[in-house]
Amino acid sequence: MLGRPPDARSYPCLARPIRNSGHRSEPGIVILEERGGISPQSVWRVWPNVRGKSCGVPTIRNAREQVDLVTENSARERVDYAEAILRLKTELNAVILAHYYQQGDIQDVADIIGDSLELSRKAAETKAEVIVFAGVHFMAETAKILNPKKHVLLPDLAAGCSLAEGCPADRFIAFRAKHPDHVSITYINCSAEVKAASDIICTSSNAEKIIRQIPPEKPIFFAPDRNLGRYLIRRTGRPMLLWEGSCIVHETFSLRKLTQLQYEHPEAELIAHPECEEPVLERAAFIGSTSSLLRHVQESASTAFIVATESGILHQMAKLAPLKTLIPAPPEANCACNDCPYMKLNTMEKLYACMRNRSPEIIMDEETMRRALVPIQRMLSMS
Ligand code: 13P
Ligand code: SF4
Repeated sequence: MLGRPPDARSYPCLARPIRNSGHRSEPGIVILEERGGISPQSVWRVWPNVRGKSCGVPTIRNAREQVDLVTENSARERVDYAEAILRLKTELNAVILAHYYQQGDIQDVADIIGDSLELSRKAAETKAEVIVFAGVHFMAETAKILNPKKHVLLPDLAAGCSLAEGCPADRFIAFRAKHPDHVSITYINCSAEVKAASDIICTSSNAEKIIRQIPPEKPIFFAPDRNLGRYLIRRTGRPMLLWEGSCIVHETFSLRKLTQLQYEHPEAELIAHPECEEPVLERAAFIGSTSSLLRHVQESASTAFIVATESGILHQMAKLAPLKTLIPAPPEANCACNDCPYMKLNTMEKLYACMRNRSPEIIMDEETMRRALVPIQRMLSMS
């Protein structure tokens, strides 16, 4: 349950030796690992005195050996990151856009927090000279495509996405060449090159609306998320050719454990992001994008919710609906963590450093940007 410190029962990975890593738990030292593992910041928020080190997140390509964390770091460089970030924001004439899956402290310094669609819209409208994107790479790329003359900073360039990585542009283009009659509606979680080869971009907020605008005689190819694609087929009754991609976070939710949780909390509504697999979605009382899940928690008469999406959203849910009980849906792995390992690469320290150094910056090929802008603009005008 939100707000309760992690313990060895709810987070067994804190207490046991880490597989294949050579690291072992030691008294007073938390080893942070595993796919979608608990972010160090989550641990420090609730256990400020614990020392810790991380042995890396194995599912991220080019995973680096991570630092001995936070206690040592903050002792070395005593910076009040929140204050320094706000100061730099004024100096740079910057806007900070943050996705709901970012850590709570990052959400708290952001100017705008939103889902993929809202952040794209805000990126398109901003007057700021510098856009600092606290999210993942494809989101920052989208902001850059919409603002080719502006500086777009991303705290960690390795913040990718399993959906984008599972849909390389060469394979996508070859697939499209085999189906030239299909209109391609592509989920925004993809690279700029894939966007440039697509007809229309969509997000989980507007996909259904966009699909309903395609003439019925026109066949549709939907990429890269097969779970979202299947959900949209069920919603619209529209057959679509699907790319076989998935989100590593939303695919980890365990039906078995969800069933147990629902038994323990019969009053709780199961709400889910459409990137979840079909058996989870079939059980959900409400399905929607991150912002619609947030709205639903605020507006629904229910007082308790089992939330089947990335854990970062719980921060805003707890802030905006403080009287509601929020229960994160458990993954199948023997661990209660459901952090996106890409989203959680961003930290306050890296956010501060990227603003201080004006780097890492998103630099893109102009022709790709020009071509990718067309299906993004179609999305904005159709939603
Ligand atoms: P939305 O914020 O559009 O619901 O997307 C969720 C997601 O997975 C972003 O990576
Ligand atoms: Fe990609 Fe899934 Fe992470 Fe979203 S939660 S950025 S879809 S890997």
